[in-house]
Amino acid sequence: MHARAMRLRDYHRSDFELVWELDQECFPPGIAYSRSELRAFLSQKTAEAIVAERDGRVVGFVLGWRRSGIDGHVITLDVATSARRQGLGRRLLGELERRFQVAGVKRVQLETAVANSTAIAFYERLGYRKVAHLERYYGRGLHAWKMAKTLDGEQARLPRARVLASKIGRSPR
Ligand SMILES: CC(C)(COP(=O)(O)OP(=O)(O)OC[C@H]1O[C@@H](n2cnc3c(N)ncnc32)[C@H](O)[C@@H]1OP(=O)(O)O)[C@@H](O)C(=O)NCCC(=O)NCCS
Repeated sequence: MHARAMRLRDYHRSDFELVWELDQECFPPGIAYSRSELRAFLSQKTAEAIVAERDGRVVGFVLGWRRSGIDGHVITLDVATSARRQGLGRRLLGELERRFQVAGVKRVQLETAVANSTAIAFYERLGYRKVAHLERYYGRGLHAWKMAKTLDGEQARLPRARVLASKIGRSPR
């Protein structure tokens, strides 16, 4: 079924368990969020959380927050295995970026595991660039790319990728 048959709507508290299960399906242990981590991100004052439904089933989720007036961060983007490659990830991220832009965000950042080649290809396709290599971001041997995109199209202002030899801990993906 095409992504057009999928409905995007605001996240409600009652979606929590389904969204958490979707996150568990989408990420390996150690990278998937615990319930308390996910709750903590959702409770941020500037959190934007959007759910995608198909036939009343939650098949997609995106969560972001504004860290400062002009900086947005993608905390997670989850599309159920059965709903992939139908444009849903693109729609969810596009809606998050639209909301960020309305709120004055100029630059969106995220982290993704170096081993997650699907996510890297997806984000690059949508205009994100690798801006830093984060050593051991998810733990020993589990490095990440910090990726970023400017919402006003001035991508040239982004710094070139550099290596940060620090573990930032359990911060947003
Ligand atoms: C990454 C993810 C969100 C993509 O969602 P999706 O709905 O399948 O993506 P879309 O259908 O919108 O794809 C948009 C474009 O991204 C690229 N892309 C998506 N999946 C890809 C893959 N497996 N390999 C290569 N390119 C891919 C393609 O260019 C695609 O356009 P196309 O289908 O016209 O070729 C999804 O695979 C997912 O949930 N993965 C697990 C969780 C995760 O890694 N989240 C991101 C890190 S926070």
